[in-house]
Amino acid sequence: MNEVINCIKTRRSCRRFKEEQIPDQDLEAILEAGRYAPSGGNNQSCHLIVIQNKSVLLELRNLVEQEFSKMEVYEGMYKSIKASIQASKKGGYDFYYSAPTLVVVANQKDYGNALTDSACLLENMMLAATSLNIGSCWINQLRWLDGNEEIRAFLEKLGLGGDEAVCGGLALGRKAVKDQEPLKRVGNQITYIK
Ligand SMILES: Cc1cc2nc3c(=O)[nH]c(=O)nc-3n(C[C@H](O)[C@H](O)[C@H](O)COP(=O)(O)O)c2cc1C
Repeated sequence: MNEVINCIKTRRSCRRFKEEQIPDQDLEAILEAGRYAPSGGNNQSCHLIVIQNKSVLLELRNLVEQEFSKMEVYEGMYKSIKASIQASKKGGYDFYYSAPTLVVVANQKDYGNALTDSACLLENMMLAATSLNIGSCWINQLRWLDGNEEIRAFLEKLGLGGDEAVCGGLALGRKAVKDQEPLKRVGNQITYIK
């Protein structure tokens, strides 16, 4: 099978990572693949904040748990946010699966393609990681908490601009689990008009 298509089809979300850090050259290749993503009007306004400092990651993890645990679930709430709140209230919530690297992807708050450009960039990074045998998982919690003052203040100390919004995140690390089988797609339907 064509290498790129094979990479797309074999990429899986990894949620168990080894403690060891990924090699800098792999990280650079993954970030560069992200930066090569297309962007609306060639805007190139994504901002990647790469966190590898263990104590910063732990502080962020505790802060995320603290802020989610203050929230209440309600009927019709998006199931993953609900799960994050419930897990945080129990304690020990690890939103980035203790990955040694967490990439926060932000973009201009008032830019209409902020989310879509960020998604292209994130997918490029996930595919590059797959090709390098590095585990990756999209991490959305910081996007959900983007309006939270404590989280924003913390991320602004790390370099998030006041005019930027978090659009997504990516956990990266060496996989601590066996490669999973490609997940069968039953959705994402196609209508052909020939
Ligand atoms: C927009 C988006 C947000 C996601 N957020 C999370 C997340 O916060 N945590 C997580 O563990 N997985 C997250 N995922 C991963 C999905 O759960 C995963 O892609 C899906 O279940 C399909 O599995 P696969 O990636 O192994 O093919 C997210 C994926 C996308 C595209």
